[in-house]
Amino acid sequence: MDREEIFSQIQKTFQLEPLLRLQEELLGKKGKLTQALRKIPSLPPEERAAEGQRLNLLKKEVQEALAKKSQDLENKSNQDQSLEYFDVTLPGKKPPIGTGTLHPITQMRQKAEEIFQLMGFEIVEPREVDDDYHVFESLNIPPGHPARDMWDTFWTEQGHIPITHTSSMQNRVLTSRKPPIRAIIPGKCFRHEATDSRHEHTFYQIEGVLVDKNITLTDLIGTLVTFMEAFYEKKIRYKIQPSYFPFVEPGLEFLIECVICQGKGCSTCGRSGWLELVPCGPIHPKVMEMANLDQEKYSGFAWGLGLDRLVMIKYGIEDIRRFHSGDLRFLGQF
Ligand code: FA5
Repeated sequence: MDREEIFSQIQKTFQLEPLLRLQEELLGKKGKLTQALRKIPSLPPEERAAEGQRLNLLKKEVQEALAKKSQDLENKSNQDQSLEYFDVTLPGKKPPIGTGTLHPITQMRQKAEEIFQLMGFEIVEPREVDDDYHVFESLNIPPGHPARDMWDTFWTEQGHIPITHTSSMQNRVLTSRKPPIRAIIPGKCFRHEATDSRHEHTFYQIEGVLVDKNITLTDLIGTLVTFMEAFYEKKIRYKIQPSYFPFVEPGLEFLIECVICQGKGCSTCGRSGWLELVPCGPIHPKVMEMANLDQEKYSGFAWGLGLDRLVMIKYGIEDIRRFHSGDLRFLGQF
């Protein structure tokens, strides 16, 4: 049995059927190698051991070479088949769980952006990580100010902050533009938060900043009411109550009558019939001063609405943590 010839034959076989035939010719019942092995007992005793060892080793190597070749040919045939049947003009196959959709927060952010754009606001992106000056100091929150506790959050080793609120952009917007200024800043915020059904460590705000001549509180209220009615696509009842933020004066909270229970009281509004939706107020004189704005001439207002809450109320979602759950049964509904 010529070893080299056997391996060259295996190598030169490029189809499965001839390979199976070759296997039969070599290792089948009447195969050459099988026959040669059978003849060993009839060899002179001094040759038996060496010939037996050689043929058994050869048989093992042939078996391995055949198995490898057979696997190679099968792989190639699969590849050829997929090439053969691949039709580039076919529409894509739908994955079993359906194609992706925009996240409900993204959809509603886009809706909010469209409404504010129609009202003449430009859209500004915040920095996701910012410095102490923009997150706190330029907002009339100097080091040691007790309001820092409310927003104290994650810090990088270099002393930067994954922004705790989109108000971090107020100073940048006010210093980089000349009045009239109308901007919204939709962005992701991060807080060191004990999470519950209404609080996440990562959530979205839409900041609003407006500065112009003769701006009063009624302009602020009118802007928010117009937005809310366009967003919820219905008339709303609202009220304003005092609040506190160091960068607005007076600090206010804009509430709407619960759009789910129409003010009767339900679990979403904590049985009060009202939803606290937008902290806001006229821009504080110190913030105007730090932005070098002429307060004899101009005044303005700002707000920071929580987008997640707005969306929860729109769809009656009871737990904010669903947004980041990655649960396709939830996300697939939007
Ligand atoms: C602020 O962040 C102020 N910067 C808002 C502001 C801007 C006031 C401009 C005045 C002028 P506050 O911490 O209350 O305020 O957050 C604003 C809104 O963000 C809340 O009303 C709420 O809707 C949302 N929010 C706050 N914390 C969370 C949280 N952990 N999870 C989800 N939403 C939150």
